[in-house]
Amino acid sequence: QNDDDQLIIDAGQKQFGATTCEACGMLYSVDSPEDNFQHTQFHQRFLDTIKFVGWKKERGMAEFWDGKIILVLPDDPKYATKKAEDVRRIADTELGFQQVSLSSPKAAKTYLFINSDRMVVGCVVAEPVRQAFRVLEQPEKPKDMTKEDFMERHRAWCCSTVPEKAICGISRIWVFSMMRRKGIATRMLDTVRNSFMYGSHLTKDEIAFSDPTPDGKLFATKYCGT
Ligand code: ACO
Ligand code: ZN
Repeated sequence: QNDDDQLIIDAGQKQFGATTCEACGMLYSVDSPEDNFQHTQFHQRFLDTIKFVGWKKERGMAEFWDGKIILVLPDDPKYATKKAEDVRRIADTELGFQQVSLSSPKAAKTYLFINSDRMVVGCVVAEPVRQAFRVLEQPEKPKDMTKEDFMERHRAWCCSTVPEKAICGISRIWVFSMMRRKGIATRMLDTVRNSFMYGSHLTKDEIAFSDPTPDGKLFATKYCGT
């Protein structure tokens, strides 16, 4: 019955010209006025969420020619924690997480990458962890499997069962789709390693990724040099 489902989806796409917006990620049908309307609204909300007007006391962590990284802590003023939360929600939606709470919200540190157009284009949530499970190699996604099914299954067997010592857990890492492959995630993690623990620099072995997606794993493998 999987094949039938796929057929219906394929037919639907041909008939209604389904397309995915490169910016906000919404799948909609360009030929449907209703869909276009919904997309316009969703797209605008997305842009509003990543818009960064700035605030007086920013915790600047790093500056680059194309942007900067700021840190938001749980006890920061509401306007800061709200922005961090809203961006995290965008990331969660894209990662397919539904209302996943943080393991230690009071200790979670949110790093935001703000680009020169004043948009939040990167978000990393780092939390203290005592142990982690090393990510293992896993096969490619079979063609007949949906991304969701794959990720569901993939999470169960991507990690070793032997816990290893880690200090900093990366529970979310997200970069705006149109700003990927510009080293934003790399620079954010370098900044996390330099600042997560006061006065010490964490090695790549001391950070751990929780629940990596296929994208996340490709990145993590490269970043950690494994
Ligand atoms: N495919 C293959 N290699 C990749 C990919 C990819 N999709 N993404 C990164 N890499 C590798 C490359 O070698 C890259 O170097 P190169 O561009 O010179 O070849 C290197 O990692 C560094 O990449 P960055 O530019 O620093 O990574 P980027 O800023 O693009 O962000 C990220 C990577 C965060 C995974 C981004 O693709 C993303 O947000 N994806 C959607 C959300 C997601 O899946 N996040 C990970 C979830 S796991 C978790 O949250 C714990
Ligand atoms: Zn859009």
